[in-house]
Amino acid sequence: YHGNKKEIEMAKKIEYGRMLHGGDYNPEQWLDRPDILKKDIEYFKKAHINTVSVGIFSWAVLEPEEGKYNLGWLEEIIDNLYKEGISTILATPSGARPKWMADKYPEVLRMDPDRTRRFFGGRHNHCYTSPVYRQKVHDMDKLLSQRLGSHPGVILWHISNEFGGECYCPLCQQKFREWLKEKYGTIEKLNSSWCTTFWSHIYNSFDQIEAPSPKGENELHALKLDWNRFVTDRTIDFIKGEVAAIREGGSELPVTANLMYDYNGLDYKKFRDVLDVVSWDNYPGWHKKEEYLTAIDAGMQHDLMRSIKNQPFLLMESCPSATNWKPINKLKKPGMMLAASLQAVAHGSDSVLYFQLHQSQGASEKFHGAVIDHYGGEDTRVFKEVTEVGEALEALKEVCGSQMKSPVAVLYDRENNWAIQDAQGPRNENMFYTEAVQKQYRALREQGLNVDVISMEHELSSYKIVAAPMAYMFKDGYEERLRAYAENGGTLVITYWTGLVDGTDKCFLGGTPYGLLEAAGLRTTEIDALYDWEENHGISEPGNHLGISGTYTCKNLCELVKVSDAEVLMRYGDDFYTGAPVVTHKAYGKGHVYYVGADMEQAFYSDFYGKAAKETGIQAPLGFVPAEVSVTLRENQENEYLFIQNYARETKAVPVPAEYEVIYGAADEIMQPLATRVLKKKK
Ligand code: GLA
Ligand code: ZN
Repeated sequence: YHGNKKEIEMAKKIEYGRMLHGGDYNPEQWLDRPDILKKDIEYFKKAHINTVSVGIFSWAVLEPEEGKYNLGWLEEIIDNLYKEGISTILATPSGARPKWMADKYPEVLRMDPDRTRRFFGGRHNHCYTSPVYRQKVHDMDKLLSQRLGSHPGVILWHISNEFGGECYCPLCQQKFREWLKEKYGTIEKLNSSWCTTFWSHIYNSFDQIEAPSPKGENELHALKLDWNRFVTDRTIDFIKGEVAAIREGGSELPVTANLMYDYNGLDYKKFRDVLDVVSWDNYPGWHKKEEYLTAIDAGMQHDLMRSIKNQPFLLMESCPSATNWKPINKLKKPGMMLAASLQAVAHGSDSVLYFQLHQSQGASEKFHGAVIDHYGGEDTRVFKEVTEVGEALEALKEVCGSQMKSPVAVLYDRENNWAIQDAQGPRNENMFYTEAVQKQYRALREQGLNVDVISMEHELSSYKIVAAPMAYMFKDGYEERLRAYAENGGTLVITYWTGLVDGTDKCFLGGTPYGLLEAAGLRTTEIDALYDWEENHGISEPGNHLGISGTYTCKNLCELVKVSDAEVLMRYGDDFYTGAPVVTHKAYGKGHVYYVGADMEQAFYSDFYGKAAKETGIQAPLGFVPAEVSVTLRENQENEYLFIQNYARETKAVPVPAEYEVIYGAADEIMQPLATRVLKKKK
């Protein structure tokens, strides 16, 4: 899946030569203030800003009336920036459209699930199918490409903005029917895959099918699952249209689209083929809980984004101060912005870009943090900290373009999440899928290892450990891939609620985890859902081969199994299933299959992976990782770059291993809270 030839060639093409520093800039809001536009560039240079993203919401200025184009101002801005050594990421403006277009062609506006058409307003609310909208976007993108696509200052295309949402208009519904026909071929095949005999929902033809609706079909899980998939495919098809228009206009520059934090509306793994580089927008709520916990959360998202293409990505947006759209918009304490920015780089980003460079004077984001605020001066805490980030990125220039190799991976699959959320199973309040993934992710990171966050499409053979928590859905024979992985020497960790349904959410018959009964040496019999206030315990079996010895709490879900041929590592400590196996192991082929039957607490996973990682012989770059310290490794052909960050609220002692040289941060053993140190080693 990753590392194929085309991607490697593409990756070579994307050479920025420096870490990108800058962000979203909306000069169209200041065209009547040339003094401000001039001053902005002076400030950018002072803050070591070398890249700006423009044009993101500029359509109404670029085409004020239908067919009357006005691109001169944009060209002038790009020119002025370029003269000062500042590159441009050029956006297509399709994320919001002018009023005249909505008035003349209502079909460009989105329809909600209740099949009512939206009014003009807001943004990100267009139909992905409307031929008129596609044509208008095409014309605009092609023109931008012709006029500005070969400007030496332009380095990358930013397609639209934060793709999301779905449209239920008749045009989109028709496309959905065609999509289903293409997928299933015959209506009989669809009926049997979707189990429509249940409640008499059998379809006689594809024409009868409606998208899910709050007033209509909403419990046919397979329909909803396919609708979600269709929405992703429709969005990608729309992106392809934009890219084609750019290519028609003559530009061959790479393209990106800015993705969002744990966004559940789209299956981002499918973006790997349409984007040349992945980018995303990161807005963690720092200081809400311990910084380390937020760092783990953000770190997992960085790794998820990086793993889409297994290439360096871009941090496209982040806030240099406080956002204005969260319930509570807390300031970042001194040093937090620098640490958060370098965290992105530590996880494979070749940029730190902000939303926004210059705060808008009005409308909904007038109080969103910015590099230059309404006051308009450089003597602010934010400006000073942004400048520090710029200096740090210059010091880390040589890291740009370096890759990350991970010896371990955690499966976090969007389709699986959709299926779990709809399943109507043991805990409809919350199955805690994301949390289960995050616990395993955190435990692996605590070993000081790079971790890939993968989907069901990723190749597994390069990993020493694959954690596949709650892999409820085995799509396209995934069970066979997992089985073969363990047989060939991998350590596979599966859990409760694994291998229950196929890719259309149809339950497997004959026992679960489907296809792995022999490999795991067990079959599940029942699963107990716990009330929020209940807990159970896993008690270690004396003398188990892994040497795990503690007692750990588990909550939410406790699965019961019948062991046929596996070593029991832990047993339940409470309830009627006291003494029943909860953690097991089987040496299978050249590898291992571990099974964790309950939603265990974090401490279990930390201890477990400490021991399991040893068993596989993985060498972590640092022998000892203090609690709440983060370690990641980037590398290129010549060097390794070890990033160490202290997210604890107290100092930590982290010695510099002899073979490394410090290229960023203090070299003494004691690391202050939020300190970053980057070490380099020749290969
Ligand atoms: C998103 C959008 C930006 C802006 C920021 C504010 O990431 O892409 O246009 O609204 O949020 O945080
Ligand atoms: Zn539509």
